[in-house]
Amino acid sequence: MSKLVNAVKWGPDSWRDKPILQVPDYPDAKALADVEAQLATFPPLVFAGEARNLKVALAKVAAGQAFLLQGGDCAESFAEHGANNIRDFFRVFLQMAVVLTYAAACPVVKVGRIAGQFAKPRTSPTEKRNGVELPVYRGDIINGTDFTPEARTPEPRRQLEAYRQSAATLNLLRAFAKGGYASLDNVHRWMLESVRGSPQSKRYGDLADRVSGALDFMRACGLTFAADSSLGTTDFYTSHEALLLGYEQAFTRVDSTTGDWYCTSGHMVWIGDRTRQPDHAHVEYCRGIKNPLGLKTGPTQKPDELLKLIDILDPDNEPGRLTLICRVGADKVADLLPAMVRAVKREGRNVVWSCDPMHGNTITSVTGYKTRPFDQILKEVRGFFQVCAAEGVYPGGVHLEMTGKDVTECTGGARAISDEDLNDRYHTVCDPRLNAEQSIDLSFLLADLLKSKREGTMTPLPAVAGL
Ligand code: PEP
Ligand code: CO
Repeated sequence: MSKLVNAVKWGPDSWRDKPILQVPDYPDAKALADVEAQLATFPPLVFAGEARNLKVALAKVAAGQAFLLQGGDCAESFAEHGANNIRDFFRVFLQMAVVLTYAAACPVVKVGRIAGQFAKPRTSPTEKRNGVELPVYRGDIINGTDFTPEARTPEPRRQLEAYRQSAATLNLLRAFAKGGYASLDNVHRWMLESVRGSPQSKRYGDLADRVSGALDFMRACGLTFAADSSLGTTDFYTSHEALLLGYEQAFTRVDSTTGDWYCTSGHMVWIGDRTRQPDHAHVEYCRGIKNPLGLKTGPTQKPDELLKLIDILDPDNEPGRLTLICRVGADKVADLLPAMVRAVKREGRNVVWSCDPMHGNTITSVTGYKTRPFDQILKEVRGFFQVCAAEGVYPGGVHLEMTGKDVTECTGGARAISDEDLNDRYHTVCDPRLNAEQSIDLSFLLADLLKSKREGTMTPLPAVAGL
């Protein structure tokens, strides 16, 4: 079947002939076509060579020689775009990465859900309030959050604004990653004010002392920190869900070096759990681009269908091409994940196994907020590591919704955010994110898991059957 699918000619627009879910209802088709034509003339946001570098880095993850840290907002927002937010996100991300690098004693591949993560799949096409029904909010690239017909009507020109914001964000991220800010010399400075004084800050401070000590030692031995050294800069990549295919098509360009098609709106794109039907448009689009791909696999994913998708998306079994982002929920991971892992392993498929402990653990709090209990997030991560250990595959990474801000969106964590606290600083326009402190807390749990994996002391799965 896959051979036949893959033999059919692909083009950046071949998805248009396929069934498609999650498409906004744009009232003005001409305005949409005009915007897409304009976007197609804009410079690419990323280069094919960078996407190839990420694929090489992910191939190392697939081989068990690196760990993938992917995370950021559920949905970026126009209103919250600013240098401080980007800087604080980047700082927390670097802190997490250093914690993981130290524990795993291997490189951490850093991929943000940023600079393009705007379009959202939704459960229902409309939303009702007090008897009034309007189109659902689908992300700032499509419509607005206000509950008015004007805001909720899909507006194509928002795609131009999303491009502008992505370009500005990426520009700052590149400066942070390469301009000295990400130097390991700054390991103490990355700690955010909001996190100082928290239980993790002491643990992080101790680790930062050890890193600084090691750097002093290396300096004493004559090693220098030129700005271009791997200690003075970092590689940071961008990713988002390839959901709004007209936008993605506009940024699908031929790489002059290889003649291959690349999606140039981000280094890596993924297919969401709601749009992964093998014969539908999103899979069709993604199969033809050469970027590293992610595929979300939720609880309804059947192992044989997963194999079919892998055949279509990665027919050459190319290391680094495909990351399976599992998001089945903390209470289902022990039941559902082993069969998926076994099927993929049996077929000799060379994928990255990553755990998204967010999307299978969303609940509504008694106070009416969409939230995620921190304990359930930890439980899914732990379960994922245990299944991987039991099945003999490498737990390659995590995929998180997180922010550098001190928000109150997920309950629990060291400060025991309660249902009542959610109202204090609930800022997300879509799903609840880990705040800075919870993110660092989680990185220490991951560090412990990676360490026990390295030392072969992982608790076997049966011991956690009743997790
Ligand atoms: C997301 O990553 O924000 C998302 C909607 O995830 P999923 O497709 O796994 O539900
Ligand atoms: Co989300």
